[in-house]
Amino acid sequence: MGSASPLQSVSRLRYILASMTEPSSEKTRRAACLEEARAEHAKLSAERAEHDIRYHQQDAPVISDAEYDSLRRRVEALEARFPELAKAEPEAKVGAAPAEKFAKVRHAVPMLSLGNIFAEEEAEEFVARVRRFLGMPAEAPLAITAEPKIDGLSCSLRYENGELVQAATRGDGYEGEDVTANVRTIREIPHRLKGENVPDICEIRGEVYMTKADFMALNERQLEAGKPPFANPRNSAAGSLRQLDSSITAKRPLHFFAYAWGEMSEMPASTQMGMIAAFKSFGFNVNPFTTLCYSSEELLAHWRLIEEERAALGYDIDGVVYKVDDLDLQRRLGFVSRAPRWATAHKFPAEKATTILRDIEIQLGRTGALTPVARLEPVTVGGVVVTNATLHNEDEIGRKDVRIGDTVTIQRAGDVIPQVLGPVLDKRPKGAKPYVFPEHCPACGSAAVREIDAKGEVDAVRRCTGGLICPAQSIERLKHFCSRNAFDIEGLGDRQIELFHNDGLVMSPADIFTLEERDKGSLKKLKDREGFGATSVKNLFAAIDARRKIPLNRFIFALGIRHVGETNARRLARHFHTFEALREIGRAAQDENSEARAELNAIEGVGDVVAEAVADFFAEKHNEDVLDALLAEVTPEPMEAMVTTSPVAGKTVVFTGALERMTREEAKAQAERLGAKVAGSVSKKTDLVVAGPGAGSKLAKAEQFNIEVISEDEWLARTAV
Ligand code: IVH
Repeated sequence: MGSASPLQSVSRLRYILASMTEPSSEKTRRAACLEEARAEHAKLSAERAEHDIRYHQQDAPVISDAEYDSLRRRVEALEARFPELAKAEPEAKVGAAPAEKFAKVRHAVPMLSLGNIFAEEEAEEFVARVRRFLGMPAEAPLAITAEPKIDGLSCSLRYENGELVQAATRGDGYEGEDVTANVRTIREIPHRLKGENVPDICEIRGEVYMTKADFMALNERQLEAGKPPFANPRNSAAGSLRQLDSSITAKRPLHFFAYAWGEMSEMPASTQMGMIAAFKSFGFNVNPFTTLCYSSEELLAHWRLIEEERAALGYDIDGVVYKVDDLDLQRRLGFVSRAPRWATAHKFPAEKATTILRDIEIQLGRTGALTPVARLEPVTVGGVVVTNATLHNEDEIGRKDVRIGDTVTIQRAGDVIPQVLGPVLDKRPKGAKPYVFPEHCPACGSAAVREIDAKGEVDAVRRCTGGLICPAQSIERLKHFCSRNAFDIEGLGDRQIELFHNDGLVMSPADIFTLEERDKGSLKKLKDREGFGATSVKNLFAAIDARRKIPLNRFIFALGIRHVGETNARRLARHFHTFEALREIGRAAQDENSEARAELNAIEGVGDVVAEAVADFFAEKHNEDVLDALLAEVTPEPMEAMVTTSPVAGKTVVFTGALERMTREEAKAQAERLGAKVAGSVSKKTDLVVAGPGAGSKLAKAEQFNIEVISEDEWLARTAV
């Protein structure tokens, strides 16, 4: 995703923050820092937005919660120092905007987030801060509740006159998705509230979650059905709740704990504990580990107790939430930015365990990367049985010196794949040898090499050079083609792809779309194969047919062009609008100095590396053949220009010379917003050149081609909407 590695971003941020801490009264100095901070803020925010979408809309995060938190803290550190950066955002939104498929629900009371703390001292600081804010002397009693932080997804349930009328996800905190039909299928959520004292309008909030055992059973079923497994119980709960077909949700074992509220026509209690008791009386499950404490010592004791219980709970929790009990005090404390001052989440460290490293297996990715995976003696980490963990790459194995047979420490941070932290040296068996990374591809036997980049740095990844002859790469490319954010063909999961590939039925993407036709003439029909039946084959063919038309960005992403992930695919789709246009420029971009290469390079967010990868992709004859075959079966739908009515919509614009009233980036973003295409160099296809002082060869070329040239001021006048 992001261009810079997290490490690069961290050191960059340190530099910016460090240079800011030196006292200086010079305005210019601050302005220079601000400019840098703005750029860094924009970059980190974009990265964060992307992760928000993956987490909230796609239920498929690619970074751990801890990494996300560190990203968030970096953004917040910049905003704390430069408040103008925070103001640049329209609203302090939490999470990502809701996915398109559900109706939107505006929350009457926003669903905000919680601040996090990690160290014990921070719990003391939290209590001290609350006291200070309220002007409370140390001897005055202050009640604070402590309860588990459930790792699911929050949901707001609206009851009117006791009847459930609407259920919504958090979404971005202000607007969520209407999941009423799905929520009605959850047994633990009452359709009608119990008791006499139910307020006329009563919004109950809490967490929808799945138990660890149910999550594992569901993943088994997902794999059987050829669907991708969920990364963790939280994602499986989110994926289950956000189904368009509520009969699917009904089959998923979802649970609910009530812990908060939104709009209330009357308050049934004046304390947090009282509210929880009221929720219980209305018919909700509330968490039994909720308790009242009177000091940071008591809070910490309860935190430790819950941590000890954590693995045995049966559902994932990732910390303990502390909340000031008295609701009047909560009101006085209020909110800062996106989190309440009266509450905080004290997170748990990642769960760890030790086990034996049985083997190191090399897996192959679609780009030929050899990835080492640790095969472990099964061990329970926080209630989930772990048998594999990632070892990242060759250097990492060397650095940690992990050897087959070692007892190793592993960590599960509530997310994705567990990691191997390192060996327990005093348990190393005699004769254990350092691991030797293979120099040949285990699938095709071709040499596996580590590339050296232009700066002379050796790539961390060793890659198979077998290219097209390597069956493992070909299978992985097909899996990517069918994956959730690409073609997403129901019933064509990893297992089925492996099966079809091994039988020679599907060797390249186009084969998927001719499968039905070929099956008609085949003696060994799909429906007669083991694991298939008439219905599943019929459904599979229908699912394949449904994808004969596909949004352009998904199509581009599915091709698996190196460095073209979802974001870059979207950028390319937005820029070129049609696949033909991308293909034409991709073909013409093989020469590094070509205009086509410059055009690719000039797309916002696309740099040298991506431009080169696109050019390389179209330079490959095999890829062209694959595309021809695929395009005979599938139509990528052109992507609409964002604005088609502006005077520059559809025009190709080149900015040259110094711009005085806007930065190059701003100019480009504005042009693209108005539906124009921004190119880096002037060609016959250029419609308009915006020239500032110092414009040189591009201006000359524009005159030579008789292209309209305007000044920056004229541009601004023309594009003022
Ligand atoms: S209280 C204004 N209590 O954590 C704060 N949240 O980071 C209202 N969560 O969106 C939230 N368990 O999804 C609260 N016992 C608990 C919780 C809890 C889990 C989640 C919830 C919220 C997120 C905030």
